[in-house]
Amino acid sequence: MKKLIGILTGGGDCPGLNALIRAAVRKGIDLYGFEFLGLKDGWAGLLEMRTMPLDRKAVSGILYRGGTILGSSRTNPAKSEETIEKAMENYRKLGLDALIVIGGDDTLGAANKLYRRGINAIGVPKTIDNDIMGTDMTFGFITAVQIVTDAIDRLHTTAESHHRVIVVEVMGRHAGWIATYAGIAGGAHMILVPEEPFNIEDVCSCINERKETGKNYSIIVVAEGAKPVEADTFETVNNEIDEFGNVRLGGIGNTLAKEVEKRTGFESRAVVLGHTQRGGTPTAFDRVLSTRYGIAAIDLVHQGKFGMMTGLRGTEIVPVDLKVAAEKTRTLDMELYEISKVFFG
Ligand code: F6P
Repeated sequence: MKKLIGILTGGGDCPGLNALIRAAVRKGIDLYGFEFLGLKDGWAGLLEMRTMPLDRKAVSGILYRGGTILGSSRTNPAKSEETIEKAMENYRKLGLDALIVIGGDDTLGAANKLYRRGINAIGVPKTIDNDIMGTDMTFGFITAVQIVTDAIDRLHTTAESHHRVIVVEVMGRHAGWIATYAGIAGGAHMILVPEEPFNIEDVCSCINERKETGKNYSIIVVAEGAKPVEADTFETVNNEIDEFGNVRLGGIGNTLAKEVEKRTGFESRAVVLGHTQRGGTPTAFDRVLSTRYGIAAIDLVHQGKFGMMTGLRGTEIVPVDLKVAAEKTRTLDMELYEISKVFFG
């Protein structure tokens, strides 16, 4: 009998998910003779037995499409003993032999817990934030960086024309990867990241020093999780938390723009790029990376190496213990941040 492999995508979507699904299904069917079942909307699909067929036809024409044909959600199957039991029961009822779980640290953490209870789980790290332990890079990250870089390029010209300060707030949760990569690529005049609380006076000095050299505009990139040294905590959109206990970050861009305007006299604007960073077609790099992850994931299923996820180490895709993903957030490489500082001002 053919083996039946489930696939789900959990957490915030990111460009490259469809390329990954396509790669795993194509190789799984063509080389290993597997059958596939898509679980809709992340773990919710398993808990509620909502599925869709995943055959060659279903994955045709999706390589370049953003989002995920499976849908996604932040449902946590490991939040209670009852939901863990439900997930285990439905995994058996659906007749699954293995489950490929594509997600961020929360989704992969849940996969690890369910693996320990008996599900043949294989993880694949995904997020635009690039903040998952066990891999040098997640797919979707470079696409998000390109989107932010393109936006910064455009903001330079309008900021310069109006002699304004534009504060660009970007995603990344508690890691400054997107801010730093895009800030370097886009020539930001200052980059503020969660890993290093900032001093508002330093930001204003940078803007004023630029003015003294005849530069009457500035672009400041701020990560949504960045905060001033004097603040106890980061800014949030509201107090709501998701099933994994995450708050929605956001608001620092506006706060900073107002403060900068008050202190420097420069008219200031905040631009919040938000979910634009997650949408649309993946870059060529992300299409290739997610294709490689998809191939590696189905190879792990074939080899029966469960409880592992795929990781990028240097230029190689290697198997990594699933538990590593949930251990802690992979924060910014501070050497890279130091490089970005050379161009501040
Ligand atoms: O984790 C990915 C991410 O895009 C973060 O950068 C951001 O903070 C969060 O998701 C936004 O979540 P939501 O889609 O629930 O608003």
